[in-house]
Amino acid sequence: MSEKTILVTGGSGFIGSNLVRMLRQDEAFRVINLDKLTYAANPETLADLKNDDGYIFVQGDIGNRELVRWIFKQYHPVGVLNLAAESHVDRSIESPEDFVQTNIVAAYRLLDEALFYWRTLPDVEKKEFRFLHVSTDEVFGALGDDGFFTEETRYSPNSPYSASKAASDHFVRAYQHTYGLPTLITNCSNNYGPYQFPEKLIPMMIFNALRGELLPVYGDGSNVRDWIYVEDHCRAIMSVFEKGQVGETYVIGANSEQKNIDLVHTICNIMNELLPLDKNPGLNAKKINNYEDLIHFVTDRPGHDQRYAIDAKKMHNELGWEPEMSLEEGLRQTVRWYIENLDWVNQASGGKFDDWVNKNYAWRGAY
Ligand code: NAD
Ligand code: DAU
Repeated sequence: MSEKTILVTGGSGFIGSNLVRMLRQDEAFRVINLDKLTYAANPETLADLKNDDGYIFVQGDIGNRELVRWIFKQYHPVGVLNLAAESHVDRSIESPEDFVQTNIVAAYRLLDEALFYWRTLPDVEKKEFRFLHVSTDEVFGALGDDGFFTEETRYSPNSPYSASKAASDHFVRAYQHTYGLPTLITNCSNNYGPYQFPEKLIPMMIFNALRGELLPVYGDGSNVRDWIYVEDHCRAIMSVFEKGQVGETYVIGANSEQKNIDLVHTICNIMNELLPLDKNPGLNAKKINNYEDLIHFVTDRPGHDQRYAIDAKKMHNELGWEPEMSLEEGLRQTVRWYIENLDWVNQASGGKFDDWVNKNYAWRGAY
């Protein structure tokens, strides 16, 4: 039987590239990756698939209707995994416009083109088709000391990023309810692992520590995030795509809550173990006794959500999905990956790491 084709959007970003690689390793699907290649993407990330006939890259915007229509017609996918988005909260605070354009307007156009295509399909294929929208737990707002997000939690987004993701979730839900498009939504917690653009907490801390730069911890570092290894998230997405109930939402998490400050200390400890200071050429004779000396508390993120935590019972009970990677082991593998792949980090920032990543957001100022 010939391979089925799937359209992945945002496949050159962090989660998307891990997902595309997983799908091609299993040869589960022929993959069309539609990605605009924004600052957050690095074409080198999927260079290993260059000679893979089952992987097709199309550079473009999910909001370009003509292009999206052509892709559907040309490649006849059995479904869409929509990961393309602007994804960094700090940038959304500085400048929400791109978040509205991509996460709301362009996502709506992609959805509408999926509906147009779906309506042209014969009944058997119509039944099989799925549009899976990858979203975030941030749409639920913030938790206090207790409780967990579930599929029943009320939407209460607090940042321009999460507001834009919430808007697209609502459109996806409405397209199922109104037009019958077979959609699914996943809301996942914080991902970490290889190929994450180093403006996010974990890769930034590793990369700054490698170069002896300050490790900026927002506020008092007491905010809590619930971490999941990216490959566990990718497997979860595929279980929902293959076995999820049309019209349903699934929250995804690995039950690994950490205060930011504790997480940063753990990263420093792993760094001390894997790359002791006297073996780290990146420090350029900077005098520190321990990576932890680099920890520096800075102005808090405006509207900073205090705590996220996921109750992933539905994923377990209905789909039999479980995370496989512990936070401790996942962090160790991630630190090792960044130490061994510094070239990728430098490429990812186009050699302008400090302009792009250690950005002086107006709200944070220089530190
Ligand atoms: P990322 O920023 O690393 O990658 C996003 C990708 O989308 C990039 O390759 C970028 O070039 C592409 N893109 C952006 N705008 C586009 C457009 N208009 N058309 C086509 N491509 C475009 O993001 P990520 O961390 O991999 O997140 C992927 C998805 O998962 C996002 O929808 C995000 O909201 C969601 N999510 C992320 C996390 C997380 O912790 N990173 C957690 C839950 C959900
Ligand atoms: O919860 C899922 C979300 O997780 C995704 O939807 C987003 O795309 C993803 O970026 C992530 O959002 P966060 O804002 O939680 O991730 P970030 O890595 O930016 O920050 C994690 C925590 O660390 C947060 O409490 C802010 C803090 N932080 C972040 C940075 C970049 C710092 O203390 N210092 C920093 O320099």
